[in-house]
Amino acid sequence: MNKTGTQTIETTRLILRRFKIEDAEDMYENWASDPEVTRFLTWPAHSDVEITKKILTDWVSRYEDGGYFNWAMELKENGAVIGNISVVKLNEDTEAADMGYCMSRAYWGRGLMPEALKAVMDYLFDEVGLNRIAACHDVNNPKSGRVMDKAGMKQEGILRVAGKNNQGICDEVWHSMIRSDR
Ligand SMILES: CC(C)(COP(=O)(O)OP(=O)(O)OC[C@H]1O[C@@H](n2cnc3c(N)ncnc32)[C@H](O)[C@@H]1OP(=O)(O)O)[C@@H](O)C(=O)NCCC(=O)NCCS
Repeated sequence: MNKTGTQTIETTRLILRRFKIEDAEDMYENWASDPEVTRFLTWPAHSDVEITKKILTDWVSRYEDGGYFNWAMELKENGAVIGNISVVKLNEDTEAADMGYCMSRAYWGRGLMPEALKAVMDYLFDEVGLNRIAACHDVNNPKSGRVMDKAGMKQEGILRVAGKNNQGICDEVWHSMIRSDR
């Protein structure tokens, strides 16, 4: 695999780019402080923008690593940073990645995350050279599964009581796309 890291990707409505510390206010206001966004995630909603700043400082420091893939979703129409899409687990041996994403509630339902996921998968297959890209969601969070479907992933199966998030232990629905699916 090619460790090209987090490079800017442009889609019809989005610029997917590296985070900057200055994105803290947007990240905090738009999604990180919203318990409805973090309902099925593994981290608690931020109670203070200082927490967001600390996390961004860590993320920004990791961009030198070409195996680190973490994009801010900047909406072209207003320049706001509205969400985040990243590789949450990379397996260099099998050249495979697991994805994670979340986005401001104000922009749900416009197909923006499928647009981002599709573009990121193209980058990870074509530029990084991965063989497999996967993602999972809590069975009780089917809207995330719709993102995976619309981006072209196929459902693989359900791992029973295999995950844990802010709702507790859950069944995980796994989806993937592999190089030969394209
Ligand atoms: C999951 C998420 C990224 C979807 O992003 P999105 O850009 O809204 O995706 P889409 O517009 O394609 O909508 C996907 C589904 O969300 C649901 N949805 C759409 N608008 C919605 C709204 N306003 N409120 C609740 N659900 C909505 C619909 O079921 C939709 O599927 P459909 O198009 O077949 O009707 C977003 O809801 C989110 O950030 N959720 C919180 C974080 C999260 O759950 N991340 C995934 C963890 S595995």
